[in-house]
Amino acid sequence: MNILSSSGEEGVCVEMTMVCLSDFEEYAKQHLSKATWDYYEAGADDCCTRDDNLQAYKRIRLRPRILRDVSLNDTRTSVLGTEISFPVGIAPTAFHCLAWHEGEQATARATEAVNTCYIASTYSTCSVEEIAAAAPNGYRWFQLYLYRDRKLSEQIVRRVEALGYKALVLTVDVPYTGKRRNDIRNQFKLPPHLMVKNFEGMFQEQTSTQEEYGIPANTLDPSISWKDVCWLQSLSRLPIIIKGILTKEDAELAVEHGVQGIIVSNHGGRQLDGVPATIDCLPEIVDAVQGRVEVYMDGGIRTGNDVLKAVALGAKCVFIGRPAVWGLAYKGEEGVREILQILHDEFRLSMALSGCRNVAEINRNLIQFSRL
Ligand SMILES: Cc1cc2nc3c(=O)[nH]c(=O)nc-3n(C[C@H](O)[C@H](O)[C@H](O)COP(=O)(O)O)c2cc1C
Repeated sequence: MNILSSSGEEGVCVEMTMVCLSDFEEYAKQHLSKATWDYYEAGADDCCTRDDNLQAYKRIRLRPRILRDVSLNDTRTSVLGTEISFPVGIAPTAFHCLAWHEGEQATARATEAVNTCYIASTYSTCSVEEIAAAAPNGYRWFQLYLYRDRKLSEQIVRRVEALGYKALVLTVDVPYTGKRRNDIRNQFKLPPHLMVKNFEGMFQEQTSTQEEYGIPANTLDPSISWKDVCWLQSLSRLPIIIKGILTKEDAELAVEHGVQGIIVSNHGGRQLDGVPATIDCLPEIVDAVQGRVEVYMDGGIRTGNDVLKAVALGAKCVFIGRPAVWGLAYKGEEGVREILQILHDEFRLSMALSGCRNVAEINRNLIQFSRL
């Protein structure tokens, strides 16, 4: 995990050791174009929620147990009945080819190698077919938006079902895209050689209309409601996971509508600014759901210690968004693997230092609630 990077002194190269995820962040910041970096980094409005997603973990204190023989630690867990190597997967993020030429294919191979779950974004710069072919044995879910033209949504659902994707992750926090100031300033656009590959050729007749993040503006359907969840269930036998729930009320509705999972998410702070950090929303949702469906979360996970806290507060698995892209920017597949490996090692160490021998032993007793 060593790279050469220019030091402050002119012409001198120093070896940089990648120790933690912020080292990859720094690398990405230095090596990506400004518009691409700004796009990945963006939060909505004042970025309060984006930043709070990270800060909130730092406010939580742990209550470790001692003398519990932690010579062997088992980090494995399962999602929807499938075993994964540790409770961290890859959240859906758009446009991986902006960070690395092989894009989502590299991400898919890395997650296959590490044996965890990859949620492929609708806004991928490789098609769902290319992603599946790159990592034929990988465990994958597909993230879905609903479009005004339901035929588009229907077609992609049929494709991913046939390709062996194991669940549909319906993102529900984007009736409209949040206001990301730097993207507006930069007039962010995909370069001409890249496109939202899943919809290649499907928008040809609309090329004259205004574009938003690679597809014609106003393609997303802001009228989406719970009845569309029922529609999706009528269309596909795949488990449905709702991504973007932040309250117990909506968690209850999700369970009532028969979904199989919930991802507590505020879209990495890119949608409604001023909502709480996801780790602060998690307990009320876990309490409301009472084990009837699996609860996952994303937002601000940067260390194995963060993973431990989220699992202690009831997350079955957490997902990383931006860090995967930093890994890609660093070294493609290898970079994403390193990100996952570092998180895995840190998680294992935090488990051991807090006296947890396996994931089932991680529970709320680990959290010092009097400080929250
Ligand atoms: C650059 C970028 C692109 C994203 N694209 C999508 C997307 O296409 N679909 C989606 O459901 N969420 C998308 N998200 C949100 C992520 O799935 C996830 O909720 C968020 O990144 C988690 O926060 P983190 O980046 O702090 O880990 C995106 C996030 C980022 C940073």
